[in-house]
Amino acid sequence: MSASAYALRMCGIVGYVGERSALDVVVEGLKRLEYRGYDSAGVAIRDDAGELTVIRKAGKLANLQAALAEASEADLTGTLGIGHTRWATHGAPTDRNAHPHTDCQGAVAVVHNGTLENFEVLRDGLEHRGHTLLSETDTEAVAHLIEEQYDGDLAAAVRTVCAGLEGSYVLVVTHRDHPDLVIGARRNLPLVVGLGEGENFLASDVTAFIAHTRTARAIDQDQFVELRREGVRVTDAQGTEVDGEVFHVDWDTAAAEKAGYEYFMLKEIDEQPEALRETALGRVDVHGRLMLDELAMSDEDVQGLSQVIVVGCGSAYHSGLVAKYAIERWARLPVQVEMASEFRYRDPVLDRHTLVVAISQSGETADTLEAVRHARRQRASVLAITNTVGSSIARESDATFYTRGGPEVAVASTKAVMTQLVAVYLVGLYLAQVRGYRDGDEIRSHFADLAHTPDLVAAVLGRMDPVRKLAREIASCERVLFLGRHVGYPMAMEGALKLKELAYVSAEGFPAGEIKHGPIALIEKGTPVVVIAPRHALTPKLVTNVQEVRARGARTIVIATDGDDSMVPHADELIRIPDTKSLLSPLLTLVPMQILAAEFAMARGLDVDQPRNLAKSVTVE
Ligand code: M6R
Repeated sequence: MSASAYALRMCGIVGYVGERSALDVVVEGLKRLEYRGYDSAGVAIRDDAGELTVIRKAGKLANLQAALAEASEADLTGTLGIGHTRWATHGAPTDRNAHPHTDCQGAVAVVHNGTLENFEVLRDGLEHRGHTLLSETDTEAVAHLIEEQYDGDLAAAVRTVCAGLEGSYVLVVTHRDHPDLVIGARRNLPLVVGLGEGENFLASDVTAFIAHTRTARAIDQDQFVELRREGVRVTDAQGTEVDGEVFHVDWDTAAAEKAGYEYFMLKEIDEQPEALRETALGRVDVHGRLMLDELAMSDEDVQGLSQVIVVGCGSAYHSGLVAKYAIERWARLPVQVEMASEFRYRDPVLDRHTLVVAISQSGETADTLEAVRHARRQRASVLAITNTVGSSIARESDATFYTRGGPEVAVASTKAVMTQLVAVYLVGLYLAQVRGYRDGDEIRSHFADLAHTPDLVAAVLGRMDPVRKLAREIASCERVLFLGRHVGYPMAMEGALKLKELAYVSAEGFPAGEIKHGPIALIEKGTPVVVIAPRHALTPKLVTNVQEVRARGARTIVIATDGDDSMVPHADELIRIPDTKSLLSPLLTLVPMQILAAEFAMARGLDVDQPRNLAKSVTVE
């Protein structure tokens, strides 16, 4: 295997300098960032004797913690440290490839998120000049390059090295000669500073330090940070100090804790009513008109729009599919929805009359970020819908609608998807209002229905015991299909995605009308088929589709509206949800599918917060 095959793609990084035990702060930060990658983890602590102690372990953070517990306390006593939790794309992650990496002298320690494309050239050059590299990572080369450039000015050495790097990176660097300095550098990947009193933090995202400070500053492209106890200096590539926006993080620390739940995902599912309420809050003025100042477009520009294009990845893409139904229905604007990873490669037709809506929980997904950049280059207006204040997508878009879901830690997205749905409904209603396609009464009525959904979601959550039981019953099945029509179709895909990412079974979501064109061949005796069938004009057609799969042996699990008995004769299992307008039904139908997937995975003994091979946000293409 080539060394570059071990290149890092997505990781969590922490840096700290202050008065507390750096080890405690760094490990606590890594715990909160472990969702970003959990193949290996490591720390470097500058101890009081001026030595750097590096401890790294393959596997989850718990392995590192066990190794730390066995290490000498004196070596790990210090108030400056860095840490890393890793997600690698190929090859078995090993202790040797875990971060931090050091130079020949053990004087420099580096953690890295990203991929260095010119790594092989850099490595060859270093070996030629007599350096010995011990790992197969690209990161180790950076430590040795800094060693070559270092003449007492660590910040200058890092800037010089970065000038020769190709690819994307966040680097956090420490040197044993500097008891009060951690350097950060960023290109294309996220890096945030936490500003404390007598202490400062660097991290991949704010959750790593919100227990200590809520004041943060995002670092921009190609900027460098010099982190000291008494201050933070941010510079450009030439070393000239630059200003930046300081923002307040209002996420509750408890929201990033499990609070007695076995898994974050279970807690996040339960937090959904509150997350929906928060996201919809304060969107109507005293006259009952929707307010969406975040859109930052004049009424004239909204009226001049000719199309909307929605981009996102994974679950965010599914939220985008629902946006199509809502915006086209309410605002009568043509909407295309595209996976962000494909968007810019097909040379989409965009102009200044196009609104691009980029949906991303993390605000850091590389494909979505690149789609934003592409759209802006073509003069389209870009609205970000994201959960993460100060994220790259938020900062690079023309306008941002922040969902207010609070931190989502579990890899499988739940409350973030729900709040994205609220956001796209609000955008749809607002566009309809400004473009005059719906009168005020109708918009108020839709908004009232939307504002009522948190109570309905809470009601669905209260009915989930039979779904848990059913999930345990079918947990040995290796294939599950999901069918829906209209907005039930994207939800079928979302239900299937949840199940495949959590339980590693083959799960597919289809528009129910399509199954007879091929997918029905997948049905065998007992194959569970989840049918998303909230009350809708299309329900009679869905009944026909359910009969088709049942006739071929499927075990039908039907999600149906209270009082609608049309599915009863065709359902082996019936999951009831309260009545709501069909366009809003995804907010209700999603809940049983989330519970089904989580419980199914738990019955298989799997870790639902950290499914294999995945990471929470994917910051490379
Ligand atoms: O942070 P983002 O919303 O941009 O992430 C997009 C996808 O990676 C994400 O939704 C992924 O599909 C989830 N694991 C699904 O549960």
